[in-house]
Amino acid sequence: CGIVAYAGVRAASPILLQGLRKLEYRGYDSAGIAIHRGSAIEIYKQEGKVANLVDSLGDYQNDLVHQQAHVGIAHTRWATHGPPTQANAHPHSAGDGRIALVHNGIIENYRSLKSKLEAQGHVFLSDTDSEVLAHLVDSHYEGDLFTALSAALKQVDGTYGVACICADEAGKLLVARRGSPIVIGLGDGETIVASDASAIISHTRQVIYLDDNDIAIVEEGKVDVRTLDAVPVQRDLASIDWSEAAAGKGGYDHYMLKEIFEQPEAIRNAIRGRIDKDRGTAILSGLGLSPRELVDFQRLLIVGCGTSLNAGLVGEYAVESFAAMLAEVEQAAEFRYRNPIVGSKDLVIAISQSGETADTLAAVREAIDKGALVAGLVNVVGSTIAREAGRGIYLHAGPEISVASTKAFTCQVSVLLLVALKLARGRRMSRDEGVKITREILGIPALVQQVLEKNDAIAKIANNFIKCEHMFYIGRGYMYPVALEGALKMKEISYIHAEAYNAAELKHGPIALLDGNMPVVALMNRGPGQEKTVGNVEECRARKAPVLGVITEGDEEAKVACDWTIEVPDCPHYIATIVCTVALQLFSYHVARLRGCSIDQPRNLAKSVTVE
Ligand code: G6P
Repeated sequence: CGIVAYAGVRAASPILLQGLRKLEYRGYDSAGIAIHRGSAIEIYKQEGKVANLVDSLGDYQNDLVHQQAHVGIAHTRWATHGPPTQANAHPHSAGDGRIALVHNGIIENYRSLKSKLEAQGHVFLSDTDSEVLAHLVDSHYEGDLFTALSAALKQVDGTYGVACICADEAGKLLVARRGSPIVIGLGDGETIVASDASAIISHTRQVIYLDDNDIAIVEEGKVDVRTLDAVPVQRDLASIDWSEAAAGKGGYDHYMLKEIFEQPEAIRNAIRGRIDKDRGTAILSGLGLSPRELVDFQRLLIVGCGTSLNAGLVGEYAVESFAAMLAEVEQAAEFRYRNPIVGSKDLVIAISQSGETADTLAAVREAIDKGALVAGLVNVVGSTIAREAGRGIYLHAGPEISVASTKAFTCQVSVLLLVALKLARGRRMSRDEGVKITREILGIPALVQQVLEKNDAIAKIANNFIKCEHMFYIGRGYMYPVALEGALKMKEISYIHAEAYNAAELKHGPIALLDGNMPVVALMNRGPGQEKTVGNVEECRARKAPVLGVITEGDEEAKVACDWTIEVPDCPHYIATIVCTVALQLFSYHVARLRGCSIDQPRNLAKSVTVE
């Protein structure tokens, strides 16, 4: 979900609505705003995308109510409790419109709180946990919103990023966080708050990030941060260094396509200054570890979710094969809840584009509590995981807006290869081998560029898949995570049911599903295990499954085994993880486009999932 709030000299509504459009990638089930005018709060909300809300407001810019309201809060929702209806949309109000509140996160004990409030006579209009919080604030209100909000938040189990206004307290809004980010932008005579910086950068680059359990009292250009117990605290002023243009579509039809095409540059930025060609090693100062400390680790544990988890798998393979070091990848959500065996001999790397994913954050905390050394591999600077891990490597991929992650993945893999190289050079890898690998890593952007040049050819192939209902993706070794990521992209944006299997596993069950209507996308580019994968493709063809092969340029033998092929440049398999993924990103993009899907905002998804 996304939150925007404004207090300043300008009319609040246009700023709130513009901010919601910027945050829509975080959720788009419903949207709403609440504005403070005189001694009243006006709430407007609609089911569906922000555009529906804007349409419903008509000529609001010339409406006196909107012109005279200089304080407001707004929200775009990704449904957790209750379907995406107008009633469940935020802002929620309580106390006959006295309090209005928007909330990200989950109030875990909302049922018991709700029963108590109902017993006191509160009447609820929605199915949401967030409305309970609004009523809880109202139940504590005795003339001071800070006191009421802090009392309410102390009763809450779960997570929140929250913005709240009170009809009786003009010119003021309160924001608070626990586990769900809040960024406060300080402008000239105005303050713009949001759940992420993309809604703020067109107004100011000077920001404050709230910490967990902070409450900020925000007024026209003024911010007063306190703890839940009202103790004033100082939070550092930070500066956002990416431009608004970086967060725009730049002439492309979709953010996803733009971000796919940005990959050569994004990868260049991710590896810049991190390679020592002469010594054949990586420079990863953000880890804050001496070569000696790096050698002392017995195991690398990688945690993440979704696309970041798939990148982690490539990292696992690379660390084991380069460094002969034990490496494991774990779904972040599982890690926390199974009492993992982890301690001071483990290096834990948490991978997250947003740096806000609740499951990954929980894994970071668990690993820290168990005494492991934790580093973040994060894209968004200043995000919660980056800050809590305390050390790590930023991706520098630039803002990723498309819900389906593309450039973050290829940058994550590029940096993980550097991590593997660093760990390997501290162990058994020779300088010569290290030099060879640094050269290969430096060559990644040019290889990716070659794949991008096949965009039109890939679009043509995509035409053959638009009526599909199911697909298999297969690959072995390094190509297995690529199959997983390829299938994930296809599911996310085209809604085709796509499953990935290790090519060898196919025959142990899934092959039962193969027939002429089950296309198989096979990663059969040259490298270890290729001939076995070609054999598996033959097994698929024997069951009449049409095959799209991702093959090495000029590999005629592999070509004859396929119905269609995407040819990629010859490169070692650990580099091909990136190269082949880019080909599959374009493939899913075109299938989804030809099927008329909402590419940047696929149904039911959100860019960053801040609930567990
Ligand atoms: C969500 C997104 C995915 C993403 C995952 C992890 O599910 O839709 O695209 O891979 O979260 O996000 P993170 O920001 O932690 O990488």
